Amino acid sequence: MAELDRFRHLAFDEIPSTNSEALAAARAGDPGHLWITARRQSAGRGRRGRAWTSVDGNLYASLLLIEPAPLLALQSLPLVAALAAHEAVASALPLGIEARIKWPNDILIEGRKAVGILLESEELPDGRRAVVAGIGINVAQAPDHGLYPVTSIRELGGTLSADEVFAHLYRSMAAGLSLWNRGEGLRAIVAAWRSRAAGIGERITVNLPNGSLSGTFENIDEEGQLVLRDDGGAHRLISAGDVFFH
Ligand code: BTN
Repeated sequence: MAELDRFRHLAFDEIPSTNSEALAAARAGDPGHLWITARRQSAGRGRRGRAWTSVDGNLYASLLLIEPAPLLALQSLPLVAALAAHEAVASALPLGIEARIKWPNDILIEGRKAVGILLESEELPDGRRAVVAGIGINVAQAPDHGLYPVTSIRELGGTLSADEVFAHLYRSMAAGLSLWNRGEGLRAIVAAWRSRAAGIGERITVNLPNGSLSGTFENIDEEGQLVLRDDGGAHRLISAGDVFFH
């Protein structure tokens, strides 16, 4: 079966959250490879319990996968989602405007946040694992999310609609997943992620649930963890946190 034909798409006008809708579909027995999109979300969710303000004109999309891979490989799925979102955003921007991936999986345009990604995973009652990649793209508007400066594709001169950006995302995600499903694709995915990343080699501070760490952002490893060289020269592996550039 051609890779693109494996996916189905349900489009809503307004629902609480495309991630919640995708998880509900999984619990109801959906076989996966299902995209849910909405024009608006009344209860959009961000990382670490934050809200994601979801106004008209932006893209809210969640991809449900069932049993996509062994649990270990799942750690690299955020890299695949970030690369696909980066490709969709880059194709919607005028020439010369640069998008970069900010660890773990935000996309910045000209240094300001324009995309957030929320990965959620749940073991279903029948023992299968559901994974949802929820992607919010500021196409037309840039709601303030408090933590970082924000922007939108429109603000930087892009003219595509949310539906058109979704068409790019749909294709880039299918291509990325097909590479990811072939185990040997992981090296290429990590290399592509690194070449599009913001801040490698720079001094950063990472806010963790229990404090913060500062040092040099050296790299990411094949599991998507951030490799930080702290001020004492020790290498720290970080799997979750908020990065701030200096
Ligand atoms: C972040 O905090 O940066 C992640 C934001 C993720 C928002 C998207 S919008 C589509 C999907 N549905 C949600 O409720 N959240 C994600």
